[in-house]
Amino acid sequence: MSRTHFNILVVDDDRSLLSTMEIILKDHGKISVANSVTQAREILQKQPMQLIFLDILLPDGNGLELLKEIKESHPATEVVMLTAIKEIDRAVDAIKNGAHDYLTKDFSPEEIHILIDKIHQKQRQQRELTFLRSEVAEMTNKEMILGDGPKSREIRELLAKVANLPASVLIEGESGTGKELLARAIHSQSPLREAPFITIHVASLPSNLVESALFGHEKGAFTGATQQRLGKLELADGGTLFLDEVGEIPEDTQIKLLRFLQEGEIERIGSNRTIKLNVRIIAATNRDLLQLVKQGGLRQDLFYRLNTIPIKLPPLRERREDITALVNLFLKRYCNNFGKNPMCLSNTALKTLIAYPWPGNIRELEHLVERLVAIHDKESIDELDIPLEYTLMGTEALDEIEQQAGKQANGDYLKTATAIFERNLIDKVLQKTGGNRTKTAKQLGIPLSTLKFKLQKLGIKKKHKELAE
Ligand SMILES: Nc1ncnc2c1ncn2[C@@H]1O[C@H](COP(=O)(O)OP(=O)(O)OP(=O)(O)O)[C@@H](O)[C@H]1O
Ligand SMILES: [Mg+2]
Repeated sequence: MSRTHFNILVVDDDRSLLSTMEIILKDHGKISVANSVTQAREILQKQPMQLIFLDILLPDGNGLELLKEIKESHPATEVVMLTAIKEIDRAVDAIKNGAHDYLTKDFSPEEIHILIDKIHQKQRQQRELTFLRSEVAEMTNKEMILGDGPKSREIRELLAKVANLPASVLIEGESGTGKELLARAIHSQSPLREAPFITIHVASLPSNLVESALFGHEKGAFTGATQQRLGKLELADGGTLFLDEVGEIPEDTQIKLLRFLQEGEIERIGSNRTIKLNVRIIAATNRDLLQLVKQGGLRQDLFYRLNTIPIKLPPLRERREDITALVNLFLKRYCNNFGKNPMCLSNTALKTLIAYPWPGNIRELEHLVERLVAIHDKESIDELDIPLEYTLMGTEALDEIEQQAGKQANGDYLKTATAIFERNLIDKVLQKTGGNRTKTAKQLGIPLSTLKFKLQKLGIKKKHKELAE
């Protein structure tokens, strides 16, 4: 089995025990031995240990004293007391003082292997917990920008009102509009803020596991249920459950969820015991749920229960006035994360981003800013640094198409749009190559003669009078 090896110290004045331990432990890590408190201290000063086996009665002192010192200076070090059978009471005291466990001196090698496996398991769980805590902290600490535009203001006002009500909330919005962030904001402004906020991403679960993820199961409830597992509803008791992609819940699970919403009761799969729970539900969806109800994908009664308070998060293109503040927030975040000096966007760069339609909404904007910060090492990011795909089809271009196509008798939209697209693209590449037509043609993958023809036809020539060959 591949696992991380420990630095292990064994402290005992019985030399034969030390050599037995060295043999048993040899596959578990690098072993050091000490036969007195003094020697153990010397070794510990040179090298921190992950695991220490510690005798209680030592010639120059007491193992329990040393345990306290170790736990104070290296709290993560695991200590296992070695005891004679008659000292078990003291070993129990040692555990109260932070020892992981004790071994009586008639131990078998197998006992030691099991004990070390358990320590590995414990450390793995601790790492997972630390990771999860940091994830939660990251999400909880995220600032939410809601500007002064009419749509954002409306959401801000709703948020303040809704947070204090125990009712279910349904957040609707395209992908990346901030549904999860809003759900967390509601929770953290509500009286439940100290209670858990639990998330379940329904769409990321296979449909046969959604029910057990929500309601939990008993050991042996179905094939593969080797252990009892608490459902997310139970974990959220007293707090909030964020039900992401609620439109994806399978039909039989919908009935159970409805029952919970009506009666506040659940049963774990494989159990008859009814459990009363108090959980506030915030659901989210990027689908049109009413449509889904009509198609038979979602129970109508469940829809009405969930939809007590609906909040619609607008796509970013309908709250463009927030883009500047969002860009600044993300610039700050990623300059910080990447350890870079503060950066800003030039006015024209910002204008380009304000004009772009943002199909991936705020998440897409965040990723773009992250990318810009990652690849550039300058103070001000210019329009030319913005990747082409963000610059060509902004709303300004769309407005121009409308106008121009509108002027024509038969409103030839596609032709006009294609021409404007082509012109903008060529213009852009010309800027990048400093007006060099040969390089521009090469980048565009067309012959120079075709480029010259297009320049003339699309009226670019006038703008770039001094074009280099
Ligand atoms: N108003 C906002 N202010 C600041 N950051 C935001 C805002 N809205 C969204 N974000 C950021 O955009 C990213 C996407 O947000 P979130 O995960 O909440 O979106 P979502 O609507 O749940 O998306 P999906 O439907 O894809 O799950 C997150 O990194 C979030 O921090
Ligand atoms: Mg989400």
